[in-house]
Amino acid sequence: MLRQALLVASRSGGARRVVETAPFTGDVVRRFVAGETIDDALRVTGGLTGEGLLVSLDVLGEDTHDEGRAEANAAHYVELLGRLGAAGLGRRAEVSLKLSAIGRTFDEDLALENARRVCAAARSAGTTVTIDMEEHTAVDSTLGVVHELRRDYPDVGAVVQAYLRRAEEHCAELAYEGSRVRLCKGAYAAPAAVAFTDKEEVDRSYVRCMKVLMAGKGYPMLATHDPRLIEVAGALSVLNERDDDTFEYQMLYGIRPQEQRRLAAEGAQVRVYVPYGREWYQYFMRRLAERPANLRFFMRSLVGR
Ligand code: FDA
Repeated sequence: MLRQALLVASRSGGARRVVETAPFTGDVVRRFVAGETIDDALRVTGGLTGEGLLVSLDVLGEDTHDEGRAEANAAHYVELLGRLGAAGLGRRAEVSLKLSAIGRTFDEDLALENARRVCAAARSAGTTVTIDMEEHTAVDSTLGVVHELRRDYPDVGAVVQAYLRRAEEHCAELAYEGSRVRLCKGAYAAPAAVAFTDKEEVDRSYVRCMKVLMAGKGYPMLATHDPRLIEVAGALSVLNERDDDTFEYQMLYGIRPQEQRRLAAEGAQVRVYVPYGREWYQYFMRRLAERPANLRFFMRSLVGR
């Protein structure tokens, strides 16, 4: 119930104004968001890659409803990738892109064109793009765009959300040679008709999907902080005789940082998803919805800790 309420609030203008102007919000947001500018993003990326971690940078700002804004968001990614390449970070840092930030909600062709520009810039910088997955109604069109992009840019990453009933089927379709696939639980509100709503069911689906991806020929990117699922992933890598460089773990910036470093120290590839930018509200609310402890941390900060 609380999760649903927070996810609804993530789309509400009124709730947004309350949260954005609350005292101490900034401190809490900084735990999950690297900063507001490309300089902030590069500084954090340099620090993480210096510690042996990989990075995926996400420019915050989704649900764009006008063409100018969509173009500006794509241009920002192009600039970021230029700076990333110039700083020599392209080999260890990629970008994550939401199609809703570059026009998907009002013009799918525009979103595809903008995504192509971002992919071209990523290639010049020596890196890759992963297309984030958003609400369940956008899954088919997003996978369609990924499929189109992969004609010219085969290394474009896809995302599967384990909470969707069709997740295992999508994993089977995507587990082919060279196919980079991020598997996450899923962070958006979705009805029972299309998604598992019970936590245990979602976890079981995640395991089934992981089995398909780890046994397949693609490159699995296992995005979770869940200790039990991380343990299963390790067992599946042994079972499928996968070398450390044939798959990676992914976690969010600010969540279980010690675990990120522990896995990397054991030789695993670990990528940290690093969001930055001014439009942090929706991303932040999804993080609160995921975990009561995140919400408690936020509430404590509001009353001055
Ligand atoms: P869950 O939230 O169920 O937590 C499971 C366990 O993990 C907890 O019981 C606890 O042990 C541990 N844990 C979790 N948070 C913790 C914390 N703050 N501190 C300590 N322990 C903690 N979603 C989406 O819909 N589309 C997308 O494209 C993406 N992309 C994406 C990329 C990356 C790199 C990640 C890590 C996640 C996403 N997500 C996403 C978000 C994802 O769908 C999901 O909402 C979150 O990862 C939370 O799910 P967990 O798998 O961590 O499990």
